[in-house]
Amino acid sequence: MCAAIRKAVIPAAGLGTRFLPVTRSVPKELLPILDRPMLQYVVEEAAEAGITDVIVVTSPGKEGIAEYFRPRPDLETRLSDDAQLLEKVRSGANLADVSFVIQEEPLGLGHAVLTAREAVGAEPFAVILPDDIVDHSPGVLSQMMAAVAGEDGAAAVAVERVPWELVQNYGVVDSEPAGEGRHRVRGMVEKPPPGTAPSNLSIVGRYLLPPQVFDCLERTPPGARGEIQLTDGLALLMEDVAVYACEFEGIRYDGGNPLGLLRASIEHALKRDDTRDAAADLVRRLAAEL
Ligand code: G1P
Repeated sequence: MCAAIRKAVIPAAGLGTRFLPVTRSVPKELLPILDRPMLQYVVEEAAEAGITDVIVVTSPGKEGIAEYFRPRPDLETRLSDDAQLLEKVRSGANLADVSFVIQEEPLGLGHAVLTAREAVGAEPFAVILPDDIVDHSPGVLSQMMAAVAGEDGAAAVAVERVPWELVQNYGVVDSEPAGEGRHRVRGMVEKPPPGTAPSNLSIVGRYLLPPQVFDCLERTPPGARGEIQLTDGLALLMEDVAVYACEFEGIRYDGGNPLGLLRASIEHALKRDDTRDAAADLVRRLAAEL
């Protein structure tokens, strides 16, 4: 992946059923970890990795996502004498050039990425799943770019080891070690039935992909859950280009379900200077009462 990656696709078209009823009107990707939407975290991670163009794939009914990135001159006027608040109001809009494409039908993650084909064009790009949050500096994308620097045209996915009883919830790679937390992928399978997974190295939602992946996704038949899966598209891509799986530094939070998001919020509050002490008091008090 020699050429610099400038664009990232963020699939955000799902219904967010695990967060109903709030997702009736608030897109899951805008739910906060403490006070910043999950989407903001991943756009920050992309910007930190040098990405300048972010393409968000949304679906009808999720207009709030585009709204979040729009400038708010009205709010800026009202808060004009408070620099800190102004900075917060502007933080969403200033990170990258954010554009939107609509996935009209929920045909799967692979299909969502394919929807962004025209916006990406013929260049390598990143995919970031906004409910996988990794709070670490450098971010996972930066770590992956460093891990495959010099591997011309290769693709990469982030992976972490998960307990064997959980592998069926993820994409899983079959791979051999390739040095320094890197693995050369030989095969990959989405949501393997219990007892069939080739390893417990599960895919975390960060991908570096060459543009050939779009042709592969065009040819990908529906797989797990009857959906066009990105993992299956990558399994086809593997016939043409090297695919690496990269382990990374940092804790992955599963923002795709309410307790995962709660854990992320608590741990984030315990880290942040302005909330650490009060959050620690709260956690201690709650633990003592159990
Ligand atoms: C998606 C991917 C899967 C990956 C997971 C990581 O699954 O299809 O390969 O392991 O994200 O969060 P989903 O969470 O949409 O079921």
